[in-house]
Amino acid sequence: MMPAPLLPSDPSDLARAVARLREAMHVLVLTGAGISAESGVPTFRGPEGLWRDFRPEDLATAEAFERDPRLVWEWYDWRRQSVAEARPNAAHVALVRLENRVPEMLVVTQNVDGLHGAAGTRRVVELHGSLWRLRCVDCRQEQDDRRAPLPELPPRCACGGLLRPGVVWFGEALPQQALFESFTAAQRAEVVIVVGTSSVVYPSAALPQAAKSVGAFVIEINPEATNLTPIADVSLRGTAAGLVPALVEGAA
Ligand code: APR
Repeated sequence: MMPAPLLPSDPSDLARAVARLREAMHVLVLTGAGISAESGVPTFRGPEGLWRDFRPEDLATAEAFERDPRLVWEWYDWRRQSVAEARPNAAHVALVRLENRVPEMLVVTQNVDGLHGAAGTRRVVELHGSLWRLRCVDCRQEQDDRRAPLPELPPRCACGGLLRPGVVWFGEALPQQALFESFTAAQRAEVVIVVGTSSVVYPSAALPQAAKSVGAFVIEINPEATNLTPIADVSLRGTAAGLVPALVEGAA
């Protein structure tokens, strides 16, 4: 007996998701690296996630920066250059259309690539910061700088201090205001759409459960099953650029 081919999502699952989304007045969208994969931005835990054989966990830490700020900046400068070439894909663009239709919608992203904002999404919370933001380790001044490559590594603040990437590193606290806004939206959401995340990093991964515990309908979009799949009401197997537009078109 040949095993059944891995079928694309069951059409009835997509139909159920569309029906719930069509009625929703409050929508929370949580995105991870997978939504930017089709824009050419490598995911963290996929095969292309390594740089010079380092894992993100080896470089995205205050200790690594303390030990070798130049090496850490070489990685971030490489990521900034690859993201500088990236453009929002059909999934990012479909979420802009959804935001125009839904009375209250918030996109909470773990991504630091800025592609939701580039697509035109108005309400975005960047839970893990942004590749384009730099912060001085001495005077704490924050600045946006989109130059890729940067003229010098590591970059220096006007005060002479070292500039670090304006991202949240492993072991660091997430910005309090961003967390508050995200969990407030989770309490109000009737539908949560979770796109392209392995759901292994907290507190981001706690958002869908927080929404579900107050009655939200949880829709997952991912080519693979994840830690979220068991609690999702619908888990659509497929890519972001394929399924997010289908979900949004049906609910428009
Ligand atoms: N469309 C949708 N999902 C995809 C696609 C795609 N085209 N390609 C891959 N994926 C899925 C993978 O199946 C995986 O579940 O995207 C997910 C990517 O998972 P990770 O690489 O773990 O990225 P993410 O979940 O965003 O990581 C969370 O971990 O390293 C930290 O701070 C970093 O923000 C990051 C956090």
